[in-house]
Amino acid sequence: MEFTAEIKKATEPIYQKISKALPEIEWPSHAPYIYEINKLKKEKNAVILAHNYQTPEIYHGIADISADSLALALEAAKTKAKIIVLCGVHFMAETAKLMSPDKKVIIPDMQAGCSLAESITGEDVRMLKEKYPGLPVVSYVNTSADVKAESDICCTSANAVKVVESLGSDKVIFLPDHYLANYVQKNTKVKIISWQGTCMVHEKFTGKEVEDIKKENPDIKVIAHPECPPDVISASDFAGSTSTMVKYVKDNQPKKVLLVTECTMSDNVQVENPNVQFIKPCNLCPHMKKITLNKVYDCLKNETNEIKISHNIAEMARKSVLRMAEIGR
Ligand code: 13P
Ligand code: SF4
Repeated sequence: MEFTAEIKKATEPIYQKISKALPEIEWPSHAPYIYEINKLKKEKNAVILAHNYQTPEIYHGIADISADSLALALEAAKTKAKIIVLCGVHFMAETAKLMSPDKKVIIPDMQAGCSLAESITGEDVRMLKEKYPGLPVVSYVNTSADVKAESDICCTSANAVKVVESLGSDKVIFLPDHYLANYVQKNTKVKIISWQGTCMVHEKFTGKEVEDIKKENPDIKVIAHPECPPDVISASDFAGSTSTMVKYVKDNQPKKVLLVTECTMSDNVQVENPNVQFIKPCNLCPHMKKITLNKVYDCLKNETNEIKISHNIAEMARKSVLRMAEIGR
């Protein structure tokens, strides 16, 4: 695609914003896609929902909503658009389809997975239910529709404690993230039975790394995602979902901040918080990074990569997601 004078002019306001997070040399290759995708969105009545870990050119250039997984699920249910393009990973697109079954939901790369979603199957959940008969099953949205179908309710990192406590049970099965389960256990009296799944991005952070950064930057605020190991959370000032982290920075305007999470998010948040200095140990999610502008363009233009879920699984999985949506944030 060519970076014409017309495209340069039309995308200038976006460039002014994004230039803080993007080297100038990259702009001529992104701008034509941003221009064409935004045109296609209007023509096809499509909405682009993007996760906070998407690259700045997606987050600031084409997304209608950029948010955490809970907000993306709730937005999918609300939208009036005909097509939802989910710039994120497969479980997020599946969740959007469960929330909005009559819409066409497409994902730019079907292979954009998640180490947590891959750590457990519907069969594993059936086995757990046999082992602990009668206990409610809470599954993180970072799971397949098969797993959601076997669960009583879903949760995200934004509402995990609230969801667990809503069930009125003194013990629950919570899966698949062992570290999120650990975080929930620290914040509730309900006994948590967990699974051994981990996020391949957050498990890499260590408490020592955070302590070392704090020593070098005594005035820094450390905010961690609850998928991090327990020593990382203990060394942090605050833990919350990706959108909760964004809000913390916006509301508190710390001089210096460390977001212990996928590192692209710091670039995105930096654009809107120019007075905050971000310290960035960089762990990238290879699945999130499979989503690129040219793949968004192709799948929206050709309406390919549509999410399909078999009827029976979808009916059961939808109940778990809707039950979570009723609880909200
Ligand atoms: P959030 O729900 O906090 O956006 O997290 C999703 C995720 O995949 C984090 O790794
Ligand atoms: Fe999954 Fe971790 Fe990537 Fe989030 S960051 S999508 S939890 S692998």
